[in-house]
Parts: sequence; structure tokens; C-alpha cells
Amino acid sequence: MIKINQKLDHPLEHKTECLILACVEEKKPSGTLKKFNDNFVDAISHAFENKRFNGKPGQTLLLNSNGKASNVLLVGIGKTKEVTAEKICQAAGRAAKLAEQSNFKSITADLSAFEGISKGKSGFYGELAGAMAEGVGLALYHFDNYKTREEKDDPPSRIEKLTLLTASKSRQASTEKSIARAEKIIDAVHTARDLISHPGSTATPTFLAEHAKKMARKNKITCKVLGQKEMEKLGMGSLLGVAQGSDEPPALIALEYNGAGKKKAPTVIVGKGVTFDTGGISLKPGANMDEMKMDMSGAATTLATLQLVSSLKLKINIVGIVAAAENMPSGSAIKPGDILKSMSGKTIEVLNTDAEGRLVLADALTYAQRYKPKEVIDLATLTGAVLHALGHHAAAVVGNNTAMIQKLKNAGEATGERVWELPLWPEHEKATKSDIADLKNIASPGVGAGTIMGAAFLKAFAGEQPWTHIDIAGTAWGFDRPYTNKGASGFGVRLLLNYLEKGR
Ligand code: BES
Ligand code: MN
Ligand code: ZN
Repeated sequence: MIKINQKLDHPLEHKTECLILACVEEKKPSGTLKKFNDNFVDAISHAFENKRFNGKPGQTLLLNSNGKASNVLLVGIGKTKEVTAEKICQAAGRAAKLAEQSNFKSITADLSAFEGISKGKSGFYGELAGAMAEGVGLALYHFDNYKTREEKDDPPSRIEKLTLLTASKSRQASTEKSIARAEKIIDAVHTARDLISHPGSTATPTFLAEHAKKMARKNKITCKVLGQKEMEKLGMGSLLGVAQGSDEPPALIALEYNGAGKKKAPTVIVGKGVTFDTGGISLKPGANMDEMKMDMSGAATTLATLQLVSSLKLKINIVGIVAAAENMPSGSAIKPGDILKSMSGKTIEVLNTDAEGRLVLADALTYAQRYKPKEVIDLATLTGAVLHALGHHAAAVVGNNTAMIQKLKNAGEATGERVWELPLWPEHEKATKSDIADLKNIASPGVGAGTIMGAAFLKAFAGEQPWTHIDIAGTAWGFDRPYTNKGASGFGVRLLLNYLEKGR
């Protein structure tokens, strides 16, 4: 992760390889930008006139300079009144990637534009400063654990340091605070991305459990891992059914963070942790099957969210439950037609072994009831169908409580990690009933509504308290933002943080 610090300096006097200036949309350069324009013999105002740059979101302009900053990078943030933290985060991500491509090693982002934007809005300056740091840090993520340094002759260029430039002494303390917070967010999102990016044969259920234990030790979190034996005792036949075809032992990981005393009912987050999904006997086609290493993204988000909540010392109670197993075809694997008995006592006819996510979650949701939750949120790469419905642009939410869903939608808007509600009607629930068991894990052909049917199945195990299912199959991988990269996005961590902090 890059180092982030802050400095009190004037942008025109500040010595740096690359100075990032966030620019609001205007007709011609004003304020600091106008002063820079003079240094650049009107190059900036010409760019405005030629519509090459005028501060619109998405625009960038990189200029070489012989001033104190050797390069100035303008990045558009749109109209003053419409600036949000998420817009700054995106602009920061864009600027950081351009700076990286330009081989800079250390960059500075000037915050003076935030003075005008945040006028009269208490706390907004700090929020924007944090978003700047967050966007840069998130955009510069690289998963290169498996790269040998054989590319020595042409190593990829990396930015090592970001300085946030504060214009006045009075802003230093809040900027410092924002940086500390942003670093924790970046670290958590990067943790999730790392876990997801590791190959399936590395990031096994045991690996997730070891990670959880280590993470819990570093934070004020208690961690319990149930192995096969313990799960058998509890009658978790549904989760164990998925795991039985694999040589990798399953794990049920339960993490507890108490920031609000022991008495308050917790929010329970449940994550799907299928560390590799071959489909099982209902084998998936070969193309892109490698991506199914990401089928534990819900688990990664759950672990990262607990890490984040604890590192930020939020005054809430939260439990994280990860249902980890590998879905493999083998002589011992479950077969279509098999019937599993879940921990809840409900029996499940497995008509397709590739609908395994709901099977591992069923027992994890039942287990969640032990904590007498105030609310339950499950995150899962559950259905390919969500990609048909929403593409890579939003996760689907389905639940039993309108207010909770609305709060999640608000959190999604604020963080750019959008969620979109799909309905769950009694007709959908009816379509989960099996002829010979209580439930079947896929609906009859022609029923459609794949994402909703996944949720309808889960509802049978979710309990009566408010519950929301978030299907992140389209967003955990390939979620395209200026501050994301190819592959794992870590989607859900920033969403849940916002929800937990503001959504109540
Ligand atoms: N892990 C997959 C869902 C998935 C698909 C995640 C694409 C990420 C990208 C899940 O276990 C699965 O296989 N779902 C099936 C359900 C079907 C058998 C009812 C699917 O979506 O095809
Ligand atoms: Mn599957
Ligand atoms: Zn799966």
C-alpha cells in the first residue's frame, strides 16, 4: 500500500514530481487554476477553450511544467454543487492511474479546491480529503504475489507516496484523521481483493480460516472455526453435502466484534465462501472456469468488513460468518437427486450440484440465529443470472424488510457500490418446494428469475428478523470503476461500512 501523508504548503510553492489538481467544472480557469494558467502561458485556458478540459467528471489533463511541480495533472470533478465523496474518489482513481502510467514515483494532491466546495458543510472537507486518499490508494492496487522479478529489465512502475496538500493550518488535524481512516478502508478492500485473487488451490477453506484467526488476533475480534466434526454434530448436512466431493476440509468461521457492549443484538453478516466452484457433478463448462476462484468473494467481504469495523473501532456489535467449502466432482460428491438434511431440520433435494452457494449458506444462516441477530445480511456470488439482470454495474438485493433495503440502497449510492432491489413474491417461494423433500435447490425449468429463486431458497433459512441477501456475482469480479482494477473488486466492503455507520 502506498504511504500517505499530509503537508501544509501552497500548491504553487510545493515541490513534487506530479501535482494533482481537482478542478470543478467552469467556463474558464479561476482561483488556483488561474494562477497555474499564468505559469503555463495560458495552456490551461486554451484547453478550456478547446474543450479538451473544463473540469467535467472523467476529464484529465497532464501538463509538463518548469515550476516547483515538474508536472501538473488536472482532473475534472464536475459542478461545485454536485461534488460528492464518491466523485472525488473516482477522480482520484483516474488521476492516480494516469500518474502511474506516467512513471511518477511520488505524487501530491492539492486539496485547496475543497475549501470552496465544502463551505458551510461541516465535516465535508475531511470527507473529501479522505475520498481523495481512498481513490488513489484503491486505484493503485496490484496483485503481484505470484510475479517473479524476472521482468527486472522492465519492472512495472509503482507510485510509492501520496501527499495531501492542505492550504490552511486549521485543516491539518481533520486531514490527518481522514488519512488514517482512508488507510484502514484501503487496507480492508485490498485484503478482500487479495483473498479473492489467490488461486483456488491456495485460498482453500483452511486458508480462509487461518486468515480469519490471524486477522482476529490483530483486532479485537473473537474467532471460532468449526471443522467437519463440529459441523456434523450440529447437523449441517447442507454445507457438508457440498464439501463431501472435495479433498479440502470445509470450515465454518464465526467472528465476533463487540463495540457496543454484550447486550445489544448484533448485525450478522454471512458470506459465501466456496473457494472453488467447478459446479460439482453438474459440472460447469470449461471456458473461464478459472474465475470461479472468486466464488468466495462474499466470504472475503465479510472478513474484510469485520477487520475494518474493528480497526475503526465502531461502536456496534457485529458477527461475521463464513461458510467455506470447495465444490468438486468426485466419487464422493453429491449427485443430482440427492437429499440433504440441513441444520434447520429442513430437507433439500439437490437437483443441480452447481447451485451449491445456497446450500452452504442455508446452514450458515441457521447458525446465525444463535446470535439472536438484530438483522442479517448475506453476501454471495450466487447466480450468473444477476449478470443478465444488472451486468457488472450493481449487485442485486432481495430481502424481507423494505427499510433495510432502502438503507442499503442509500449506502450504495453514497459509495458507488450500487445495489438494486429485486422482488420476492410468494409465487417465488412456492417454486422452491420439492415433490419429495421440503425444498429443492433449483426451480423447475421455465420458472426463470434465477437470482430471485436463489434468494427465495435462502429465505427459508434466514429467520424472522430483517434480512437482506446481496448477490455480488456480477460485481465481485469485473466491477469497473476508476478506482478498481481488472479482476477482484472487493465490492461490498465500502458499501457495508457506510451502511453500518450511517444506515441506522
Ligand atoms: N458461483 C456460481 C454463480 C456465479 C456465476 C458467480 C458467474 C460468478 C459468476 C453459482 O454457484 C452457480 O453456479 N449458480 C448457478 C445456479 C443455477 C444452477 C441455478 C448459475 O448461476 O448458473
Ligand atoms: Mn455453482
Ligand atoms: Zn458458486
